[in-house]
Amino acid sequence: MQYLESYKIKFDQFLKDNAFSFDPKNLYEPIDYILSLGGKRIRPLLLLMTADLVGNQIKKALPAAMAVELFHNFTLLHDDIMDDAPLRRGKSSVHEKYDVNTAILSGDVMLILSYQYLSKTNIRDLSILYRKFNKMAREVCEGQQMDMDFENRHDVSIAEYIEMIRLKTSVLIGTTLEMGAIISEADERVSKHLYGFGENIGIAFQIQDDLLDTFGTPLVGKQKCGDIIQNKKTYLYLKALDLASKDEKNTLLRLFSTAPEDPTEKIETVLNIYKSTNVKGYAEELKLVYQDLANSHLTAACLENSVFENFNSFGNYLLARKS
Ligand code: IPE
Ligand code: IPE
Ligand code: MG
Ligand code: MG
Ligand code: MG
Repeated sequence: MQYLESYKIKFDQFLKDNAFSFDPKNLYEPIDYILSLGGKRIRPLLLLMTADLVGNQIKKALPAAMAVELFHNFTLLHDDIMDDAPLRRGKSSVHEKYDVNTAILSGDVMLILSYQYLSKTNIRDLSILYRKFNKMAREVCEGQQMDMDFENRHDVSIAEYIEMIRLKTSVLIGTTLEMGAIISEADERVSKHLYGFGENIGIAFQIQDDLLDTFGTPLVGKQKCGDIIQNKKTYLYLKALDLASKDEKNTLLRLFSTAPEDPTEKIETVLNIYKSTNVKGYAEELKLVYQDLANSHLTAACLENSVFENFNSFGNYLLARKS
Protein backbone atom coordinates (compact mmCIF):
# COMPACT_ATOMS: atom_id res chain seq x y z
CA MET A 1 0.00 0.00 0.00
CA GLN A 2 2.74 2.36 -1.10
CA TYR A 3 0.37 5.22 -1.91
CA LEU A 4 -0.91 5.33 1.68
CA GLU A 5 2.57 6.07 3.00
CA SER A 6 2.35 9.78 2.18
CA TYR A 7 -0.92 10.09 4.13
CA LYS A 8 0.59 8.20 7.02
CA ILE A 9 3.60 10.52 7.16
CA LYS A 10 1.30 13.57 7.25
CA PHE A 11 -0.96 12.09 9.91
CA ASP A 12 1.95 10.93 12.10
CA GLN A 13 3.46 14.41 11.91
CA PHE A 14 0.11 15.92 12.94
CA LEU A 15 -0.06 13.52 15.89
CA LYS A 16 3.46 14.44 16.91
CA ASP A 17 2.66 18.15 16.76
CA ASN A 18 -0.42 17.54 18.89
CA ALA A 19 0.98 15.43 21.75
CA PHE A 20 -1.23 15.34 24.82
CA SER A 21 1.32 16.58 27.31
CA PHE A 22 -1.17 18.19 29.67
CA ASP A 23 -1.89 17.85 33.38
CA PRO A 24 -3.00 15.87 35.23
CA LYS A 25 -0.64 13.28 33.78
CA ASN A 26 -2.81 10.38 34.93
CA LEU A 27 -5.55 11.63 32.63
CA TYR A 28 -3.51 12.43 29.51
CA GLU A 29 -0.59 10.01 29.58
CA PRO A 30 -2.76 6.97 28.73
CA ILE A 31 -3.83 8.82 25.57
CA ASP A 32 -0.24 9.16 24.40
CA TYR A 33 0.30 5.54 25.44
CA ILE A 34 -2.55 4.10 23.37
CA LEU A 35 -1.80 6.32 20.37
CA SER A 36 1.91 5.48 20.53
CA LEU A 37 1.07 1.78 20.15
CA GLY A 38 0.09 2.63 16.59
CA GLY A 39 -2.54 0.45 15.08
CA LYS A 40 -3.25 0.60 11.40
CA ARG A 41 -4.72 4.12 11.46
CA ILE A 42 -7.15 3.07 8.77
CA ARG A 43 -9.78 5.66 9.63
CA PRO A 44 -7.58 8.78 9.43
CA LEU A 45 -5.85 7.39 6.34
CA LEU A 46 -9.19 6.75 4.68
CA LEU A 47 -10.37 10.24 5.55
CA LEU A 48 -7.21 11.86 4.17
CA MET A 49 -7.27 9.65 1.08
CA THR A 50 -10.90 10.54 0.37
CA ALA A 51 -10.31 14.26 0.87
CA ASP A 52 -7.26 14.04 -1.40
CA LEU A 53 -8.76 11.95 -4.19
CA VAL A 54 -12.11 13.72 -4.25
CA GLY A 55 -10.94 17.30 -3.89
CA ASN A 56 -7.20 17.55 -3.26
CA GLN A 57 -7.74 18.72 0.32
CA ILE A 58 -5.39 16.80 2.61
CA LYS A 59 -4.44 19.69 4.86
CA LYS A 60 -8.00 20.82 5.44
CA ALA A 61 -8.89 17.24 6.43
CA LEU A 62 -6.20 16.71 9.10
CA PRO A 63 -8.24 17.84 12.17
CA ALA A 64 -11.16 15.60 11.14
CA ALA A 65 -8.71 12.71 10.60
CA MET A 66 -7.50 13.30 14.15
CA ALA A 67 -11.12 13.39 15.36
CA VAL A 68 -11.94 9.95 13.91
CA GLU A 69 -8.75 8.36 15.26
CA LEU A 70 -9.35 9.83 18.73
CA PHE A 71 -12.96 8.66 18.64
CA HIS A 72 -11.85 5.18 17.56
CA ASN A 73 -9.27 4.97 20.35
CA PHE A 74 -11.82 6.19 22.90
CA THR A 75 -14.06 3.27 21.89
CA LEU A 76 -11.13 0.87 22.26
CA LEU A 77 -10.37 1.99 25.85
CA HIS A 78 -13.97 1.37 26.88
CA ASP A 79 -14.36 -1.74 24.69
CA ASP A 80 -11.37 -3.40 26.35
CA ILE A 81 -12.92 -2.86 29.78
CA MET A 82 -16.25 -4.22 28.55
CA ASP A 83 -14.63 -7.22 26.82
CA ASP A 84 -12.21 -7.84 29.70
CA ALA A 85 -9.38 -7.72 27.15
CA PRO A 86 -5.85 -7.72 28.57
CA LEU A 87 -4.03 -6.98 25.31
CA ARG A 88 -4.30 -4.24 22.70
CA ARG A 89 -1.86 -3.78 19.83
CA GLY A 90 0.44 -6.35 21.38
CA LYS A 91 0.73 -4.48 24.70
CA SER A 92 -1.29 -4.18 27.90
CA SER A 93 -4.66 -2.56 27.38
CA VAL A 94 -5.09 0.75 29.21
CA HIS A 95 -7.18 -0.64 32.08
CA GLU A 96 -4.55 -3.35 32.62
CA LYS A 97 -1.57 -1.01 32.52
CA TYR A 98 -3.22 1.70 34.61
CA ASP A 99 -6.65 0.81 36.04
CA VAL A 100 -10.31 0.72 35.05
CA ASN A 101 -11.09 4.22 36.35
CA THR A 102 -8.21 5.64 34.32
CA ALA A 103 -9.41 3.89 31.16
CA ILE A 104 -12.93 5.26 31.70
CA LEU A 105 -11.89 8.87 32.22
CA SER A 106 -9.06 8.97 29.65
CA GLY A 107 -11.56 7.47 27.21
CA ASP A 108 -14.11 10.16 28.09
CA VAL A 109 -11.62 12.96 27.53
CA MET A 110 -10.58 11.44 24.19
CA LEU A 111 -14.20 11.61 23.08
CA ILE A 112 -14.31 15.28 24.02
CA LEU A 113 -10.98 15.92 22.31
CA SER A 114 -12.33 14.31 19.17
CA TYR A 115 -15.11 16.94 19.09
CA GLN A 116 -12.58 19.69 19.68
CA TYR A 117 -10.59 18.56 16.66
CA LEU A 118 -13.72 18.23 14.57
CA SER A 119 -14.58 21.84 15.42
CA LYS A 120 -11.24 22.98 13.97
CA THR A 121 -12.29 21.89 10.49
CA ASN A 122 -12.30 24.91 8.27
CA ILE A 123 -15.51 24.53 6.27
CA ARG A 124 -18.46 26.82 5.67
CA ASP A 125 -21.07 24.77 7.51
CA LEU A 126 -19.58 22.79 10.37
CA SER A 127 -23.03 21.74 11.54
CA ILE A 128 -23.18 19.17 8.70
CA LEU A 129 -20.09 17.43 10.09
CA TYR A 130 -21.49 17.52 13.63
CA ARG A 131 -24.76 15.98 12.47
CA LYS A 132 -22.94 13.11 10.75
CA PHE A 133 -20.53 12.60 13.63
CA ASN A 134 -23.25 12.66 16.31
CA LYS A 135 -25.41 10.17 14.44
CA MET A 136 -22.41 7.87 14.00
CA ALA A 137 -21.33 8.20 17.67
CA ARG A 138 -24.78 7.23 18.96
CA GLU A 139 -24.97 4.31 16.56
CA VAL A 140 -21.58 2.99 17.69
CA CYS A 141 -22.88 2.98 21.28
CA GLU A 142 -26.07 1.23 20.13
CA GLY A 143 -24.04 -1.46 18.33
CA GLN A 144 -21.77 -1.87 21.31
CA GLN A 145 -24.80 -2.35 23.59
CA MET A 146 -26.21 -4.98 21.22
CA ASP A 147 -22.82 -6.77 21.26
CA MET A 148 -22.96 -6.87 25.07
CA ASP A 149 -26.63 -7.93 25.16
CA PHE A 150 -25.89 -10.77 22.71
CA GLU A 151 -23.33 -12.30 25.12
CA ASN A 152 -26.28 -13.43 27.23
CA ARG A 153 -28.69 -14.31 24.44
CA HIS A 154 -29.01 -17.69 22.73
CA ASP A 155 -31.39 -16.78 19.93
CA VAL A 156 -29.34 -14.17 18.03
CA SER A 157 -29.95 -14.35 14.28
CA ILE A 158 -27.36 -13.71 11.58
CA ALA A 159 -29.37 -10.65 10.50
CA GLU A 160 -29.14 -9.26 14.04
CA TYR A 161 -25.40 -9.94 14.10
CA ILE A 162 -24.92 -8.05 10.82
CA GLU A 163 -26.93 -5.10 12.15
CA MET A 164 -24.86 -5.13 15.36
CA ILE A 165 -21.52 -5.00 13.51
CA ARG A 166 -22.87 -2.42 11.07
CA LEU A 167 -23.53 -0.19 14.05
CA LYS A 168 -20.51 -0.89 16.25
CA THR A 169 -17.91 -0.83 13.48
CA SER A 170 -18.97 0.10 10.00
CA VAL A 171 -20.90 3.35 10.51
CA LEU A 172 -17.63 4.91 11.71
CA ILE A 173 -15.85 3.77 8.56
CA GLY A 174 -18.73 5.00 6.38
CA THR A 175 -18.87 8.35 8.17
CA THR A 176 -15.10 8.72 7.87
CA LEU A 177 -15.32 8.49 4.09
CA GLU A 178 -18.39 10.72 3.96
CA MET A 179 -16.66 13.40 6.05
CA GLY A 180 -13.60 13.27 3.80
CA ALA A 181 -15.90 13.84 0.82
CA ILE A 182 -17.84 16.65 2.52
CA ILE A 183 -14.62 18.45 3.50
CA SER A 184 -13.61 18.27 -0.17
CA GLU A 185 -16.99 19.65 -1.21
CA ALA A 186 -17.95 16.58 -3.19
CA ASP A 187 -21.45 16.17 -4.67
CA GLU A 188 -23.92 14.75 -2.19
CA ARG A 189 -24.39 11.77 -4.49
CA VAL A 190 -20.67 10.95 -4.30
CA SER A 191 -20.45 11.40 -0.53
CA LYS A 192 -23.51 9.16 -0.02
CA HIS A 193 -22.02 6.39 -2.16
CA LEU A 194 -18.69 6.67 -0.38
CA TYR A 195 -20.60 6.23 2.88
CA GLY A 196 -22.19 3.13 1.34
CA PHE A 197 -18.79 1.82 0.33
CA GLY A 198 -17.46 2.33 3.87
CA GLU A 199 -20.55 0.86 5.48
CA ASN A 200 -20.29 -2.38 3.51
CA ILE A 201 -16.51 -2.68 3.58
CA GLY A 202 -16.78 -2.05 7.35
CA ILE A 203 -19.06 -5.08 7.74
CA ALA A 204 -16.50 -7.21 5.89
CA PHE A 205 -13.77 -5.62 8.04
CA GLN A 206 -15.52 -6.69 11.26
CA ILE A 207 -16.02 -10.23 9.90
CA GLN A 208 -12.26 -10.26 9.26
CA ASP A 209 -11.73 -8.99 12.83
CA ASP A 210 -13.81 -11.91 14.12
CA LEU A 211 -11.81 -14.33 11.94
CA LEU A 212 -8.50 -12.96 13.24
CA ASP A 213 -9.71 -13.17 16.84
CA THR A 214 -10.27 -16.91 16.42
CA PHE A 215 -7.77 -17.99 13.76
CA GLY A 216 -5.17 -15.18 13.69
CA THR A 217 -1.47 -15.22 14.52
CA PRO A 218 0.22 -13.28 17.37
CA LEU A 219 0.45 -10.38 14.87
CA VAL A 220 -3.16 -9.57 15.83
CA GLY A 221 -1.91 -8.23 19.16
CA LYS A 222 -5.05 -9.22 21.10
CA GLN A 223 -5.86 -12.11 23.39
CA LYS A 224 -6.32 -15.19 21.21
CA CYS A 225 -9.93 -16.44 21.10
CA GLY A 226 -11.19 -13.61 23.30
CA ASP A 227 -14.53 -13.81 21.46
CA ILE A 228 -14.97 -17.47 22.46
CA ILE A 229 -13.95 -16.72 26.05
CA GLN A 230 -16.50 -13.86 26.21
CA ASN A 231 -19.35 -15.80 24.54
CA LYS A 232 -19.49 -13.32 21.64
CA LYS A 233 -22.14 -14.13 19.09
CA THR A 234 -19.95 -13.82 16.02
CA TYR A 235 -20.81 -15.04 12.54
CA LEU A 236 -18.48 -18.00 13.16
CA TYR A 237 -20.53 -19.05 16.18
CA LEU A 238 -23.93 -18.42 14.59
CA LYS A 239 -23.06 -20.23 11.36
CA ALA A 240 -21.59 -23.14 13.33
CA LEU A 241 -24.86 -23.41 15.27
CA ASP A 242 -26.68 -23.56 11.91
CA LEU A 243 -24.47 -26.28 10.47
CA ALA A 244 -23.55 -28.37 13.51
CA SER A 245 -24.92 -31.81 14.36
CA LYS A 246 -27.43 -31.99 17.21
CA ASP A 247 -24.73 -32.97 19.70
CA GLU A 248 -22.34 -30.28 18.56
CA LYS A 249 -25.12 -27.72 18.72
CA ASN A 250 -25.93 -28.64 22.31
CA THR A 251 -22.24 -28.48 23.19
CA LEU A 252 -21.91 -25.01 21.64
CA LEU A 253 -25.01 -23.73 23.44
CA ARG A 254 -23.77 -25.11 26.74
CA LEU A 255 -20.22 -23.81 26.38
CA PHE A 256 -21.42 -20.35 25.37
CA SER A 257 -23.24 -19.97 28.67
CA THR A 258 -20.11 -20.66 30.71
CA ALA A 259 -17.09 -18.64 31.77
CA PRO A 260 -14.56 -21.15 33.08
CA GLU A 261 -11.53 -19.83 34.91
CA ASP A 262 -9.30 -21.84 32.61
CA PRO A 263 -10.87 -21.58 29.13
CA THR A 264 -8.42 -23.96 27.39
CA GLU A 265 -10.82 -26.85 27.03
CA LYS A 266 -13.75 -24.64 26.05
CA ILE A 267 -11.67 -23.05 23.31
CA GLU A 268 -10.42 -26.38 22.00
CA THR A 269 -13.90 -27.88 21.83
CA VAL A 270 -15.35 -24.82 20.09
CA LEU A 271 -12.47 -24.71 17.60
CA ASN A 272 -13.09 -28.36 16.74
CA ILE A 273 -16.73 -27.61 16.00
CA TYR A 274 -15.74 -24.56 13.93
CA LYS A 275 -13.41 -26.85 11.99
CA SER A 276 -15.92 -29.63 11.41
CA THR A 277 -18.52 -27.13 10.16
CA ASN A 278 -15.97 -25.19 8.03
CA VAL A 279 -17.35 -21.87 9.25
CA LYS A 280 -14.09 -20.19 8.35
CA GLY A 281 -14.82 -20.81 4.67
CA TYR A 282 -18.36 -19.42 5.04
CA ALA A 283 -17.05 -16.30 6.76
CA GLU A 284 -14.52 -15.75 3.96
CA GLU A 285 -17.39 -15.98 1.46
CA LEU A 286 -19.54 -13.53 3.42
CA LYS A 287 -16.68 -11.03 3.42
CA LEU A 288 -16.68 -11.16 -0.37
CA VAL A 289 -20.44 -10.60 -0.52
CA TYR A 290 -20.02 -7.36 1.45
CA GLN A 291 -16.97 -6.35 -0.56
CA ASP A 292 -19.06 -6.68 -3.74
CA LEU A 293 -21.80 -4.57 -2.20
CA ALA A 294 -19.19 -2.01 -1.20
CA ASN A 295 -17.78 -1.91 -4.71
CA SER A 296 -21.23 -1.47 -6.24
CA HIS A 297 -21.35 1.86 -4.38
CA LEU A 298 -17.97 2.79 -5.85
CA THR A 299 -19.31 2.03 -9.32
CA ALA A 300 -22.46 4.08 -8.65
CA ALA A 301 -20.32 7.00 -7.50
CA CYS A 302 -18.89 7.22 -11.06
CA LEU A 303 -15.36 7.93 -9.92
CA GLU A 304 -12.39 8.17 -12.24
CA ASN A 305 -10.76 4.78 -12.85
CA SER A 306 -7.66 5.54 -10.83
CA VAL A 307 -9.73 6.80 -7.88
CA PHE A 308 -11.94 3.71 -8.05
CA GLU A 309 -8.82 1.55 -8.01
CA ASN A 310 -7.41 3.28 -4.92
CA PHE A 311 -10.61 2.65 -2.94
CA ASN A 312 -10.89 -0.87 -4.28
CA SER A 313 -7.34 -1.73 -3.25
CA PHE A 314 -7.89 -0.17 0.20
CA GLY A 315 -10.82 -2.57 0.51
CA ASN A 316 -8.61 -5.50 -0.51
CA TYR A 317 -6.02 -4.47 2.05
CA LEU A 318 -8.62 -4.28 4.84
CA LEU A 319 -9.93 -7.74 4.11
CA ALA A 320 -6.57 -9.46 3.70
CA ARG A 321 -5.04 -7.87 6.78
CA LYS A 322 -3.30 -10.03 9.36
CA SER A 323 -3.39 -7.52 12.23
C1 IPE B 1 -10.32 -2.59 16.03
O1 IPE B 1 -10.09 -1.71 14.99
C2 IPE B 1 -11.74 -2.50 16.44
C3 IPE B 1 -12.68 -2.87 15.38
C4 IPE B 1 -13.59 -2.08 14.97
C5 IPE B 1 -12.63 -4.19 14.77
P1 IPE B 1 -8.75 -1.71 14.16
O2 IPE B 1 -8.47 -3.10 13.64
O3 IPE B 1 -8.81 -0.64 13.13
O4 IPE B 1 -7.66 -1.37 15.26
P2 IPE B 1 -6.27 -0.58 15.16
O5 IPE B 1 -6.58 0.87 15.33
O6 IPE B 1 -5.63 -0.90 13.85
O7 IPE B 1 -5.48 -1.11 16.33
C1 IPE C 1 -15.07 -3.49 18.05
O1 IPE C 1 -15.47 -4.73 18.41
C2 IPE C 1 -16.12 -2.44 18.20
C3 IPE C 1 -15.72 -1.23 18.95
C4 IPE C 1 -14.56 -1.02 19.49
C5 IPE C 1 -16.73 -0.22 19.10
P1 IPE C 1 -14.45 -5.75 19.03
O2 IPE C 1 -14.66 -5.88 20.49
O3 IPE C 1 -14.48 -7.00 18.21
O4 IPE C 1 -13.03 -5.04 18.77
P2 IPE C 1 -11.64 -5.63 19.22
O5 IPE C 1 -11.53 -7.02 18.62
O6 IPE C 1 -11.63 -5.67 20.71
O7 IPE C 1 -10.63 -4.70 18.62
MG1 MG D 1 -13.13 -5.99 22.02
MG1 MG E 1 -16.20 -5.52 21.83
MG1 MG F 1 -12.77 -8.28 17.80
